[in-house]
Amino acid sequence: MGLGRLSDGLAVTPPMGWNSWNAFKGNIDEGLIVDTAEALVRTGMREAGYRYVVIDDGWMGPERDGQGDLVPDPAKFPRGIGYVAERVHALGLRFGIYTDAGTKTCMGLPASLGYEFRDARLFADWGVDFVKVDWCHTDGMGPRTLYAKWALAFAATRRPMILSICEWGRSHPWTWAGTVGHLWRTCWDIQPDWSSIMTILGRQSALHPYAGPGHWNDPDMLEVANGELSAGESRAHFALWAMLAAPLIAGNDLRAMSDDTVAILTAPEIVALDQDRLGRQGRRLRSDGEVEVWVRELAGARTVAIALLNRAAVAREIRVEPAELGFGPRGDVRIRDLWRRADLADRVGEIIATVEPHSAAVLGIAPY
Ligand code: GLA
Repeated sequence: MGLGRLSDGLAVTPPMGWNSWNAFKGNIDEGLIVDTAEALVRTGMREAGYRYVVIDDGWMGPERDGQGDLVPDPAKFPRGIGYVAERVHALGLRFGIYTDAGTKTCMGLPASLGYEFRDARLFADWGVDFVKVDWCHTDGMGPRTLYAKWALAFAATRRPMILSICEWGRSHPWTWAGTVGHLWRTCWDIQPDWSSIMTILGRQSALHPYAGPGHWNDPDMLEVANGELSAGESRAHFALWAMLAAPLIAGNDLRAMSDDTVAILTAPEIVALDQDRLGRQGRRLRSDGEVEVWVRELAGARTVAIALLNRAAVAREIRVEPAELGFGPRGDVRIRDLWRRADLADRVGEIIATVEPHSAAVLGIAPY
């Protein structure tokens, strides 16, 4: 399987962490990043597996310096980026940053075209562990060539850094990016509403063959607890991203989370589902428009997870025959509710759940 893939030992399971963009856009500074890193520790998210603290767009000042290096905005990062990286590392976390492959970032700040080796070197010197490389202002450029240049620039630094490719799925990166980077966006930007999440989800099933250890489809960062999402919608979003073996990059304000939000983001068996070592992405088994059944093969012998998604505005009873999941003719199975962390039934021939509107039941299914 490893043929042609990166084999640098990074992102063996989907990366987990936090990124500043979804909640803060360009309103970021040193205090926010350090406080967020502390919140990752205090809330138990670090222990749950969240490792990467990533600064997105908006950290640069308006010009490169006289040597040609990127300069952090002095009002936002008065002690520089290396200082922030040190504070993040001191908490047992890893540090990530953002640039853009073109002439400017999406916010119109200095970007990296023609400076790939210089910028990779600078990031490595700062102690960066993860770089998101965006795709604004790249007229006429080919993503395959330009991201391959980034991979060479990373290799030249000799510092292990995750390369997060962000060209929004335009050039079908799943067909080529596994040899270049560790994750690649498959879609345009997520929004904190149910319809955006459902639209993105609908495009992921066909991409399931392309993901695996070290190379992941990225359906974009989490919107859990953002915007108008209800608790059920946040739970469904989180669980479906886990079914997709998606990077779990929280995008909310971690400094002031409700207990419910912490419980979603750290749900042990949902996180374990995302991080399953086999690294197979889930896929949609069937859909009737309002009810969808998703399945993901897990490392345990003949074990799968299923998500029963109710997109409708009323509760639905959803039934699945074990035979649909590849369990033999007798089909007796054991069922575990991965949210409640409870065994539901032993030796049953049919899986039935009542699922609330805009919610998903997530079950582990094993042969009896
Ligand atoms: C693009 C990316 C987003 C974010 C912004 C920053 O829209 O897709 O994830 O990085 O740029 O400007």
